Amino acid sequence: KTIYVLNGPNLNLLGKRQPEIYGSETLADVEAKVRARAATLGLEIEFFQSNHEGAIIDKIHEAREKAQGIIINPAAYTHTSVAILDALNAFEAPVVEVHISNVHKRESFRHHSYVSLRAEAVIAGMGTLGYQVALEYFAR
Ligand code: DQA
Repeated sequence: KTIYVLNGPNLNLLGKRQPEIYGSETLADVEAKVRARAATLGLEIEFFQSNHEGAIIDKIHEAREKAQGIIINPAAYTHTSVAILDALNAFEAPVVEVHISNVHKRESFRHHSYVSLRAEAVIAGMGTLGYQVALEYFAR
């Protein structure tokens, strides 16, 4: 099974960006842990981050042919992007939405997610552990 792990804008700054909210681990740390866990679960991983909405959409299109699941932290595009929702609706396997922070505890504009209209499951507020939990979902 191949799982695409997609990360949206500003997540390249993970570890440096508002560590009081997002923690001190970098995205490279997250990738290393995801790869290690995936190996023990027998999953193949494609790990991707972009600050560009269209690049994320292109990657979701690629996943149509190559992935049996998507784990996505769309970051701020969660709250704005009908285009990412539409791309995910064109993807046929399960989708798990991950947020490092508990978006429901934060500003009201973070309470709505377009992606949640598509996702089988949503994880928020577990920190970067959320990515590992999402992997466990796909291992079952
Ligand atoms: C985030 C939450 C979003 O509201 C925010 O725009 C992000 C990160 C999270 O992982 O907690 O960039 O998706």
